[in-house]
Amino acid sequence: MAIALIVLAAGQGTRMNSDLPKVLHRLAGAPLLAHALAAGRRLDPERVVVVVGHGADLVEKAARKIEPEAEIALQAEQLGTGHAVAQALAQLATFEGKVVVLYGDTPFIAPETLERLVENPADVVVLGFEAADPGRYGRLIATGDRLERIVEFKDATAEERAITLCNSGVICCDAGLLAALVRELSNDNAAGEYYLTDIVGLARAKGHLAEVVRCDEAETLGINTRAELAAAEAAFQARARAEALDNGVTMVDPSTVYFALNTCIGRDVVLGPNVVFGPDVTIESGATIEAFCHLEDCHISRGASVGPFARLRGGTELAEDVHIGNFVEVKNSILGEGVKAGHLTYLGDADVGEFTNIGAGTITCNYDGVFKHRTTIGANVFIGSDTMLVAPVTVGDGALTGSGSTITEDVPPGAVALGRAKQVVKPGLAVKLFEMLRAKKGRAEERRVNVRDHWRSGQSRGCAAAG
Ligand code: UD1
Ligand code: CA
Repeated sequence: MAIALIVLAAGQGTRMNSDLPKVLHRLAGAPLLAHALAAGRRLDPERVVVVVGHGADLVEKAARKIEPEAEIALQAEQLGTGHAVAQALAQLATFEGKVVVLYGDTPFIAPETLERLVENPADVVVLGFEAADPGRYGRLIATGDRLERIVEFKDATAEERAITLCNSGVICCDAGLLAALVRELSNDNAAGEYYLTDIVGLARAKGHLAEVVRCDEAETLGINTRAELAAAEAAFQARARAEALDNGVTMVDPSTVYFALNTCIGRDVVLGPNVVFGPDVTIESGATIEAFCHLEDCHISRGASVGPFARLRGGTELAEDVHIGNFVEVKNSILGEGVKAGHLTYLGDADVGEFTNIGAGTITCNYDGVFKHRTTIGANVFIGSDTMLVAPVTVGDGALTGSGSTITEDVPPGAVALGRAKQVVKPGLAVKLFEMLRAKKGRAEERRVNVRDHWRSGQSRGCAAAG
């Protein structure tokens, strides 16, 4: 059965109090929209249509980045969820199969729940939940799983408001039937909007079957405020930590480790406290990340160790048994097997061959103020401490750079490169210098004491006058 996904993301999100469209606010390092799309992707949809409106340009750009195949439907005016779906359906005129409607601001719907939804054979299937506090949710008027209609809170009677079975907003319906039903929607209701929810009553009136599929309330959590976003982050992290522990990841203090939506960690990885994952990190089994590391868009191979206090940035790949130590930053660099960069180093836009040692304080000077350049370091190289590698530059296999060198020219394999001023020694000069300096310091202290005495004597006169 072919599936098309419609993701509603045109709303403003007024209560976020933000210039950024609501669906672009980040949860676990990814826009809310990415969470909805990730769940939907698990249905292997043939088509994905994102409905944009508020901040359309930004949302469209983000949608295409997350899901390059996504199509965009513009809802210029937000006239309701039914109207939003109509805009998407205009692009799905020739599509045959089931349509699943998701909200871009509802990040926790489980893929398994969506699978249950599309497997239900009823003509219209609505995802519902028992609400602890049903608040302003739409209420499902149902007998068992048989659904009769949905009534929006604003239009509900006191009796209907007492119902606790609520509408999540997620629906599934045959594309042709959905288009026919949506065409019949009116905005004759308390909000003056085209309610998507009215399709249930319309379908029933024509003798079609509607059913509710139930899920846990936690899955249906929609984000409307910053406080809800923060609560959702906490919920995401709690679940991600539990999953990581289940999957065989050791964490010294799980509550201090922050995962991203797509963090992927192998078995027997050890994570120290206060480790933060940005997007796109993969770690192979048996690697260790020590305390206080920040990692994003990088791959760490088996047996590698990182940190404490290390930062791995976009495009970093560490081969097996690499060691990255404290206060080391690596960006867009590929480090071969067994490379060691133990202390206080910046490696940016670099290729480093296997078993090379990078001395403390080494910096790849990759940026000339306009362009970035690469540094290529061969295998088994010894980069002396405090070497400045001014890119573009190449250091051949087995070469050595002297500590404190500024390397501006390529170093051939096996060579020693020294690029520092020659040392000068002046016997006895230090003794004379210190004598001079101490005498100067004595005179300065004398002056300070004089100034203080002068001020003090002034004060005591003032005090005496007051007394
Ligand atoms: C909707 C449902 C309600 C359900 C609740 C669950 C309707 C009429 N009501 O109410 O039954 O309990 O969700 O959270 O469907 N959107 C658009 N264009 C529009 C209007 C909305 O794209 O013209 C998008 C919003 O950006 C949002 C989603 O649709 O992502 C839901 O819209 P919202 O206004 O929040 O609906 P609710 O009033 O919460
Ligand atoms: Ca809402």
